[in-house]
Amino acid sequence: MEVINRIPRMMSVARDMRAEGSRVGLVPTMGALHEGHLSLVTRAREMCDIVVASVFVNPAQFGPSEDFERYPRDLARDAELAFAKGVDFIFAPSREDMYSKDFVTYVTVEGLSEKLEGASRPGHFRGVTTVVNKLFNIVQPNFAFFGRKDAQQVIIIKRMVRDLAMDVEIVVGPVVREEDGLALSSRNVYLSTDERRAATVLRRALEKARILYNGGESDAGRLLSSIRATVEAEPLARLDYAAITDTKQLEPVATISSDGPTLISMAVFFGKTRLIDNIVLNGEL
Ligand code: PAF
Repeated sequence: MEVINRIPRMMSVARDMRAEGSRVGLVPTMGALHEGHLSLVTRAREMCDIVVASVFVNPAQFGPSEDFERYPRDLARDAELAFAKGVDFIFAPSREDMYSKDFVTYVTVEGLSEKLEGASRPGHFRGVTTVVNKLFNIVQPNFAFFGRKDAQQVIIIKRMVRDLAMDVEIVVGPVVREEDGLALSSRNVYLSTDERRAATVLRRALEKARILYNGGESDAGRLLSSIRATVEAEPLARLDYAAITDTKQLEPVATISSDGPTLISMAVFFGKTRLIDNIVLNGEL
């Protein structure tokens, strides 16, 4: 068990692991670990010989008015949780090491990165794909583990891996939820007691849509109206967007087909806190 802060040290450990023929799993995180992250570690532990978790609050994926400064950071706690779950190495580089002053190279998955989350958070996915690419280069994992809560992130990273022929398999873990259905997120700590109560509206709206769909309603417009109405009935919630799309191009669908997966995704503000959630009908990402 080791916390590695420097890129050259991580690269040298990665070279040795590869040379030994170990199967290496990477769980990329921004820290503030919760059961969602830890379930990915458990999956990685089952599939790999060596598990690396990265902890890096990536400035490139935050907009100027977003929560980069106040994003929760506690490396000692993260390390304790991660090592207890069987992580072998934590890679926690500094901002300066990851982004030198004259850093100018970015990776963009065009089109997909501008939709849904990308429309509300311009530049966000460019930051994600750039840092994930760099983490892959440094750690050289055979497998990388991402949670389905960030469904668009998963779709974009899979596309990057395919388009750039990256030698890594993306493994997608389920959404892990609190007992009342709220999806675990490092941002849940920002919620006041009342906002926390209200935040179950995401899950409630999605589950209502699922029930309507299972009852025979496949018209996307009517399902979206139901989601909007559920959110509007919650005074502390403000809907940013809700969308029903395919899972390849993230294009809106008019009717949900039973043939392949359909993504229903949404983002809701509670005060300044913005939370996302989704369900996938008829398949997986
Ligand atoms: O999902 C996250 O926590 C981040 O977007 C990731 C993948 C660690 C990149 O910074």
